[in-house]
Amino acid sequence: MDLTDRPRRLRRDGIRELVRETELAAADLIAPVFVDATTDERVPIETMPGHERVPLEEAVDRVEEVLETGVSAVILFGIPESKDARGTRAWAEDGVIQEATRRITAETDAYVITDLCLCEYTDHGHCGVLEDAAAEEPRLTVDNDETLELLSQIAVSQAEAGADMIAPSGMMDGMVGTIREGLDREDFQDVPIMSYAAKYESSFYGPFRDAADGAPAFGNRRHYQMDPANAEEAIREVALDVEQGADVLMVKPALPYLDIVRDIDRKFDRPVAAYNVSGEYAMLQAAADRGWLDLEATALESLISIKRAGADLILTYFAEDIAEHL
Ligand code: PBG
Repeated sequence: MDLTDRPRRLRRDGIRELVRETELAAADLIAPVFVDATTDERVPIETMPGHERVPLEEAVDRVEEVLETGVSAVILFGIPESKDARGTRAWAEDGVIQEATRRITAETDAYVITDLCLCEYTDHGHCGVLEDAAAEEPRLTVDNDETLELLSQIAVSQAEAGADMIAPSGMMDGMVGTIREGLDREDFQDVPIMSYAAKYESSFYGPFRDAADGAPAFGNRRHYQMDPANAEEAIREVALDVEQGADVLMVKPALPYLDIVRDIDRKFDRPVAAYNVSGEYAMLQAAADRGWLDLEATALESLISIKRAGADLILTYFAEDIAEHL
């Protein structure tokens, strides 16, 4: 056999590293942090081993732990002390996220991204205010346009508290444009928006909903999050967000949607973020716990693959553990 092209020649140690196409760095990673106004001590998140909800008093310490691993960016999720139908604690000046952001930006060098959604703040757990009678009538759900103004108000309150970047995750039509206008009106032109642009209605969010206490009390998020079967629709969703001023485009979840990450990376000239979600984390943890998988190796392989597909930034619960090995 005449084998002139032998790719194996470049796979040996020594040359292997020189021809590597994708490098993962701590600077690519964003660590999610949960701040909980209902507790005064750290509460382990059962479905996400190694992660905790921390009280406000420990928000700064928690972020310092992240910084020590070499990861410089965090995304904050808040669990408010109380919930109501409109999620009013989401934009309160003394709300859990606003207070945590103020402390973290005052006391650390972390780049602070605030998740912007109503589902952790509404008593029904949906990502916006409901249409009348939504609880009784399964066809009804979140009122898109009424929710938009609230999202803009939350964004401004987060920017006032010092957020470096705002990440709206509610999948309302027009959300990026409304938030951009709201921020600009209040002189926050320099605060970028990382839009959860192609966010799928995924069952991989299960552990997060325990962590952030944000599961819908009835119904589901099918009316606003994307159908996992659709890829072309992602292009349309993302194009709208780009038109409206999104600075970073996120795809979520990551591993089951790497085709979408690649499409978005090729079609749009903006940085692409991928969210390696709670279920992706929990799967590996559970398998490793049984001795079925090597946790560190599979986590690293997952993150490299997400980057190889085209993600510039990765939000991941593995951030700290992996950064320490890079
Ligand atoms: C809030 C939000 C969710 C996640 C991030 N922001 C939950 C959801 O949409 O149900 C999920 C993150 C994860 O699973 O790690 N809208």
